[in-house]
Amino acid sequence: MAAALLSVVAPNRGRPAARLQRRAASASNAGSGVPSSSFEVTPAHIAKGEVAREWIADVFENVDYELALSSSDAIEASGEYVRREDEDEELRYGEFDMGFFVAVVEACEPMLAEMEGRMHPSGAPGAFVDVGSGRGQIPVLAAALRPWSRCAGLEYVPVLHAIAEQAPTCLENLAASEAALFDESRAAERLNAMPSFDSPAPLSFTRGDMYDAGALTDATRGASMVFMFSTKFAVDGDGRLAVSPNLRPALASGAVVVTVNNELATADGFELVARMDGPDGERSGGSTAYVWRAV
Ligand SMILES: C[S@@+](CC[C@H](N)C(=O)[O-])C[C@H]1O[C@@H](n2cnc3c(N)ncnc32)[C@H](O)[C@@H]1O
Repeated sequence: MAAALLSVVAPNRGRPAARLQRRAASASNAGSGVPSSSFEVTPAHIAKGEVAREWIADVFENVDYELALSSSDAIEASGEYVRREDEDEELRYGEFDMGFFVAVVEACEPMLAEMEGRMHPSGAPGAFVDVGSGRGQIPVLAAALRPWSRCAGLEYVPVLHAIAEQAPTCLENLAASEAALFDESRAAERLNAMPSFDSPAPLSFTRGDMYDAGALTDATRGASMVFMFSTKFAVDGDGRLAVSPNLRPALASGAVVVTVNNELATADGFELVARMDGPDGERSGGSTAYVWRAV
């Protein structure tokens, strides 16, 4: 089961020079009824996402996939893992488009700055948390985009978590050897999209279930932004994300939550601030990101 998933996320493992498969990004900015005019995925976002995709592929090329498999086997043997990703649509793996993510973070920046200014008058940033973080690409990318107190992921599937756990070390190793790895002609462009290694946000990954209120609260503590690529996440009878009621108590007022293709419930204490359409290599017509504020 874990080996099958590994063949999807790391089809080229064991071949260090090979890159993980890339998705074709097809920009789409279909109009929407909720305020979105200032939130657009531009060619500049897509270009920055492409650059990020390259160096993040390099990060994950350094993962020891055999080690990840044995860690995952140990978790499964412990009996802590009860659902199976090959039987559960909600655990279906997919990766959010990086250019779209760059655009989302940029669009949220004024809200984040305002919220963090209230939370920490000293000017300290809040945390970024990806709920359902897969192999950890989004927290790695988030760390490159702006300062955070930490960038974290919460993931249920053992083998994905086991890969993500190696990402911080792989990123450090890449940073240490960046001069050797960089293509001279794109060095400046790549450096621009790499995390600042002067004061990088600490990266951390937890294996747990977002429907476990304690795990969700721990994972999202101090978050100024929570992200969920939630297309397949369970919804309640009203079509709202089932995790919505568990999420709000963990967050400070003003925290930003971004959900994709599914919405939170305003009754749980969330206000819809904006929506933004963008590319999704696996969905014709793209995806919609909903930007929420905890109220
Ligand atoms: C569409 S993938 C997104 C991965 C990553 N955020 C990205 O965009 O690259 C959704 C992830 O959520 C995870 N997931 C689903 N249900 C979960 C739960 N109850 N608790 C934690 N993670 C969950 C899945 O296993 C999957 O890795």
